[in-house]
Amino acid sequence: MNSVLVVGATGNVGRQVVDGLVAEGVSTRALARDPGAAVFPEGVEVVAGDLAVPESLAAAADGVESVFLVWPFHDTQGAAEVLKVLGEHAQRVVYLSSTTVNDEGPQSDLIPQRHAEIEALLAESGMPWTVLRADTIASNMLGWAGQIRAGDVVRGTEVAPTAVVHEGDIAAVAVRLLTDHSHTWRKYLVTGPRVVSRDDQVQAIAEVLGRPLRFEALPLDVARESMTAAGLPAALIESLLSMAAFRPRSDLITTTVADLTGRAARDIREWAADHAAVFR
Ligand SMILES: NC(=O)c1ccc[n+]([C@@H]2O[C@H](COP(=O)([O-])OP(=O)(O)OC[C@H]3O[C@@H](n4cnc5c(N)ncnc54)[C@H](OP(=O)(O)O)[C@@H]3O)[C@@H](O)[C@H]2O)c1
Repeated sequence: MNSVLVVGATGNVGRQVVDGLVAEGVSTRALARDPGAAVFPEGVEVVAGDLAVPESLAAAADGVESVFLVWPFHDTQGAAEVLKVLGEHAQRVVYLSSTTVNDEGPQSDLIPQRHAEIEALLAESGMPWTVLRADTIASNMLGWAGQIRAGDVVRGTEVAPTAVVHEGDIAAVAVRLLTDHSHTWRKYLVTGPRVVSRDDQVQAIAEVLGRPLRFEALPLDVARESMTAAGLPAALIESLLSMAAFRPRSDLITTTVADLTGRAARDIREWAADHAAVFR
């Protein structure tokens, strides 16, 4: 029987990976920094561990076939040590990367730079891997909830249009990659069904709420000030600003969700309907 360790199991994607694995009867371990605070479906084994303390992952990974790995940090410090520990205790890794990684030349901004570095470390590690490169995750829109509950304008940095993907579709693909070892040594690009702008995303939420909303792009220096005032970590602010400034439009649309799950990738309108309560 398959056994999987899910890193990032309390996160937007990881939570749904856990649910998908449980639904398929896969023996599932969920990594949590604070196991007492985390709530998972019945049957999930909750294990303590912290990516910032690589040796804390040894017991969590011990004996599992596949690890679902996210890298939540803004640099790659400690990543080689983490992969070493995982390689000593588990059979393979499925890494959640980004479609913005450029295989042909320099990376556009700090975010694909970090994912490219982790992918390179995985390749060097010798451990069997699968890379799941996701487009912009729709759940980033949850960050607008406070502004939308309080008013009609969403202010943030403009980012070039891209095929934003429902986190549930990423998770469904991840479940296939984690449970079918024939995907090892391959990279999968996962996108939503159409290229959308920031304002398209705001309009999808507006339609579901039945009231007008609009997106207002903040100049980068204003965005920096407002994110700093909101207490965001400096490294996160620099990553987001570099994305806003340098990331090009992406017209990439893949059929990976349909190919691997048998269901079409969901539109952002469906995402907005799924999460309407958060914005009310
Ligand atoms: N946002 C995008 O558009 C995008 C696009 C492509 C790829 N990605 C990648 O997708 C990943 C997952 O996205 P998401 O939306 O699911 O993230 P998320 O909701 O922010 O969740 C992050 C997860 O990482 C865990 N975590 C944080 N620090 C940790 C540590 N030191 N040790 C162990 N676990 C730790 C958190 O657990 P706790 O409960 O312990 O905090 C949480 O489960 C991102 O990290 C990013 O690398 C994102």
